[in-house]
Amino acid sequence: MGSLKNDENPQLQPSSEPLLYVNRIRRVLPDALAHLTLLEYLRCHSIFTSPKLILGHSVLFGTKDIGLTGTKLGCGEGGCGACTVMVSSYDAKSRKCSHYAVNACLAPLYSVEGMHVITVEGLGSCKRGLHSIQESMARAHGTQCGFCTPGFVMSMYALLWSSQTPPSEEQIKECLAGNLCQCTGYRPIVDAFRVFAKTSDILYTGISSLSPEEAKSICPSTGKPCSCNSNNVNDKCVVGDNRYKATSYDEVDGTKYTEKELIFPPELLLRTITALSLTGFGGLMWYRPLTLQHSLDLKAKYPDAKLIVGNTEVGIQMRLKRLQYRVLVSLTQVPELNFFNVKDDG
Ligand SMILES: Cc1cc2nc3c(=O)[nH]c(=O)nc-3n(C[C@H](O)[C@H](O)[C@H](O)COP(=O)(O)OP(=O)(O)OC[C@H]3O[C@@H](n4cnc5c(N)ncnc54)[C@H](O)[C@@H]3O)c2cc1C
Ligand code: FES
Ligand code: FES
Repeated sequence: MGSLKNDENPQLQPSSEPLLYVNRIRRVLPDALAHLTLLEYLRCHSIFTSPKLILGHSVLFGTKDIGLTGTKLGCGEGGCGACTVMVSSYDAKSRKCSHYAVNACLAPLYSVEGMHVITVEGLGSCKRGLHSIQESMARAHGTQCGFCTPGFVMSMYALLWSSQTPPSEEQIKECLAGNLCQCTGYRPIVDAFRVFAKTSDILYTGISSLSPEEAKSICPSTGKPCSCNSNNVNDKCVVGDNRYKATSYDEVDGTKYTEKELIFPPELLLRTITALSLTGFGGLMWYRPLTLQHSLDLKAKYPDAKLIVGNTEVGIQMRLKRLQYRVLVSLTQVPELNFFNVKDDG
């Protein structure tokens, strides 16, 4: 999906200032925001570049006018998936773009520097037309209060972007494992997304690639082995759970969808990743070294520095357990600290 070509502006000169793209909009990241999570940054309507008292106690720093409140804050500890966004990054060495579903409630803002963040607003809306994932969700009645819906949609979106071929139903279920829904229940949600799975060609073409014997044993309604002997997706399964009919991909209209898929920003393809040294509220320091030696130097200079990668443990310690760390060193760009080497002897 999408293109990596820098065909929009060949003259584009990459910038070395800290930045990210959100739904294809370029946003420079000012200093002093190291205490913010990506979610706080996305949802805030106005964050200030100098300290301010809000309601007598909260103090925030930052920029203004992001206000993308489609991404929700649920648990705030990586457990519910309501805050899921897709983060895309480009690796100049392998010349490949990677796409991940990320819990924005734990991702530090500066951890996505140089990356493209897509929120649910970047997909579609009732006004602009729904993305096929959103439309399928609505048609399959996969949403009630809707709080969890953006998270589910973004997990599915990231799966489709990161898959070379249509995912299997198992992969879809697995990608939703971090998303919780309290009111709808999971069956309609899985039904909504099943149409994107390559479980049976019937769902795409109405013609099965299975042998007639095999086709008889796979229920086109549930996509699972079944003795209903139906080979038509429109048939109701009389053997399995027959309360639901899977929406077929053909039924997803999509004609009202006017947005083009958001391609990876050309500037980020040309940009060389840089070391970062930034600050945050309360004297917090944020470093992103690029080499092992720089990481060791930082650790020697600040013995109490906390090393982080995904921040799913340190983030919980700092936010929920209120542990104070003064120096954070992000190791995501240090090659030696990002792979396992397993040998016969260990
Ligand atoms: C909702 C949720 C569910 C979880 N479920 C499980 C589970 O089922 N099983 C489980 O085992 N854990 C679980 N965890 C814990 C967490 O996912 C793991 O601890 C995870 O491996 C932490 O990785 P991280 O990169 O996010 O760590 P961070 O929070 O970035 O760092 C964790 C620790 O490792 C150190 N560290 C990180 N990277 C390096 C490195 N390259 N070199 C040296 N030290 C480093 C850090 O200094 C820090 O002390 C869960 C967490 C959450 C939020
Ligand atoms: S808000 Fe629950 S995982 Fe982020
Ligand atoms: S629709 Fe309400 S939590 Fe899922």
